[in-house]
Amino acid sequence: MKKIKKVVFPVAGLGTRFLPATKASPKEMLPIVDKPLIQYAAEEAVSSGIKELIFIIGRTKNVIMDHFDSAPELENELLAKNKKTLLKLVQKIVPKNIDCFFVRQNKPAGLGHAIHCAKNIVNNEPFAVILADDLIKSQTPCLKQLIDIYNEKETAVLALEKINKKESGKYGIIEYNSKNNNLYDVKSIVEKPSPKNAKSNLAVVGRYVFPPEIFSQIEKSKTGVGKEIQITDAIASLMNNQAVYGYIFDGKRFDCGSKFGYLQATIEYALEHKELSKEFRNYLKNLKI
Ligand code: G1P
Repeated sequence: MKKIKKVVFPVAGLGTRFLPATKASPKEMLPIVDKPLIQYAAEEAVSSGIKELIFIIGRTKNVIMDHFDSAPELENELLAKNKKTLLKLVQKIVPKNIDCFFVRQNKPAGLGHAIHCAKNIVNNEPFAVILADDLIKSQTPCLKQLIDIYNEKETAVLALEKINKKESGKYGIIEYNSKNNNLYDVKSIVEKPSPKNAKSNLAVVGRYVFPPEIFSQIEKSKTGVGKEIQITDAIASLMNNQAVYGYIFDGKRFDCGSKFGYLQATIEYALEHKELSKEFRNYLKNLKI
């Protein structure tokens, strides 16, 4: 069985929920305290055993490439000023044994289309997908939890979260045949159904593990919700040939593509930040709200 060594980060979306901040800068570069969202995603992947990071970027996202490249002027300056801690911080963004690849998606044609742009680099292996605006705080990295299930089941695994059904129009929603603790054998999946049509309150969040067969399913997919090629539709047709599992992961997700989720994440990560925790906690306590 092939190990999961590659992750795809679709980062070509327009980030319209966060305008005007995302007019010229990618939403994935928004920082939570002092690190951009895409770096949290990369760190989660690396600590889940991933060796190759594949970024699907759009025209306005070149700064993501810069973030994962070396920065000679900055590094020389930090070296000259003997700022070793900062130098290390900048240099370890991509650990030594990790490779980065960047693919340009030539039009925003949907999540399925973006993932398909990685086909030739993934090269007939199982792989993972992380959506960086779903930031997940957990003891065991969320992706590692999914990979462990993949290693046992050898079939697609999706991260799930119980939501309020009123919110079903924002997510892929599953229906299941059976469950074993937090693991669900998926029966059907629909992209962004209305609360009336949603078959459950189990929503897909931005972590997936796929067999390479997902690519041919994307190729067969017609445009779906929002006139885009949806990964959800490709998962639905994959289910005609193989089992798909959903897993309610251990951890807390922040929807950092929304202003409210972003603020929640900022507060919770700041409260745990080594340098800020004490001062920030006192600040919040004294805030008259
Ligand atoms: C995408 C997927 C959706 C999934 C969601 C998780 O939607 O299409 O199925 O539930 O991510 O965040 P988007 O948020 O890009 O509209």
